[in-house]
Amino acid sequence: MHTYHEPLDLVRERSPERPVALVRPDVLAVAARWFQDNFKGDVLYAVKANPSAWVIRALHAQGVNAFDVASVPEIELVAEHAPGARMAFMHPVKSRKAISAAYFDHGVRTFSLDTHEELAKILDATGGAKDLNLIVRLAVGNEGSMYALSGKFGAEAHAAPALLLAARRATQDLMGISFHVGSQCMRPTAYQGAMSQASRALVRAGVFADVVDVGGGFPSVYPGMIPPDLGDYMDSIHRGFAEMMVHETTELWCEPGRALVAEASSVLVRVELKKGDALYLNDGSYGSLFDATHTKWPFPVKLVRDGEASSELKPFRFYGPTCDSIDHMPGPFWLPADVDEGDYIEIGMLGAYGVAMNTRFNGFGDTDAAIVQDAPMASMYGLAKRVISTPKADEEESRKVVRFSRPKGKAGQRKRKR
Ligand SMILES: Cc1ncc(COP(=O)(O)O)c(C=O)c1O
Repeated sequence: MHTYHEPLDLVRERSPERPVALVRPDVLAVAARWFQDNFKGDVLYAVKANPSAWVIRALHAQGVNAFDVASVPEIELVAEHAPGARMAFMHPVKSRKAISAAYFDHGVRTFSLDTHEELAKILDATGGAKDLNLIVRLAVGNEGSMYALSGKFGAEAHAAPALLLAARRATQDLMGISFHVGSQCMRPTAYQGAMSQASRALVRAGVFADVVDVGGGFPSVYPGMIPPDLGDYMDSIHRGFAEMMVHETTELWCEPGRALVAEASSVLVRVELKKGDALYLNDGSYGSLFDATHTKWPFPVKLVRDGEASSELKPFRFYGPTCDSIDHMPGPFWLPADVDEGDYIEIGMLGAYGVAMNTRFNGFGDTDAAIVQDAPMASMYGLAKRVISTPKADEEESRKVVRFSRPKGKAGQRKRKR
């Protein structure tokens, strides 16, 4: 992969025809170190957030030696780029063939489940193996998250104790409990709450867990979202763990996706047409901008132009390259008013669930990648500011200030007298 000092150097040299993932391995390394230094347990990278080879390799080089995988292709990817790493197959619903391939061909021993049927399937597909690590996924509240993952997976509180007991009896190796508080979780105490739910299920089952896996959900920075310090999440988890009835050797695991990779990559796109406040781009919701469409997150943007730009910022919306009208990103994306066809735009904070979501729809989806050495647009790790300001947010902030000021007229005078 070619290295550029900053995105503008790439634009000057290559005028790229296709979208380019601008990757920042050094930023990823800082995030990986932070988790390893601050989480008192094993950090498993959730490969689904960004399955690019450079991510797997950079994490492995930083000592991340365990990966949460959800499919056989993800297993093969990790086997190729992080040889010898431990893998946990954390999808609660797997095909028999995938379970067998994971166990027999790749040495995977850790499997998650949320039903008795899946437990039976895992035992059957591994030939009744006794050396399995069986992790029961519990359904927990997702209220604190901006991207709820509840509903689809997880054993409900009333069903969890019997399943924990069955898993305990089925293996001579580790039995554990896991959950996911929802992605982009803005409430650190959600982890402690989920851990006390897990504790109750274990007590009712009358079993000890060998593993407590707190899943992913750790946040990154997006416009309009200012997450608490990641240290607060660690405090909540460590407090929650201390309160759980576990034995001395119980292992604590986490599976961060977003927080590890979000700020480590952005995407460089080109404007193909301007129609009023709509910019038609060469990337969209069938590419890296899935979340900009489906959750309407207004990712931060920067014009990357070799020359002057208007100092007036205007709100734009984006359309992607496919013929589907769903391929629309409402934003608002604030850019210089004179942005036009042929301009390049860097869309930031797209390292997680960005290129990972790429499809081939309409013949689009080919992307390039290049390393850049400048800072990300925002950072949870002190590499940039932790707030992304937009003209709209700034306007709202100033309105808030007005609301807090003393009321004008008689009401204000009365207040001043008191
Ligand atoms: C089982 C599991 N672990 C970890 C993650 C990563 O979550 P996040 O990216 O919010 O950290 C996910 C995301 O869907 C998941 O399903």
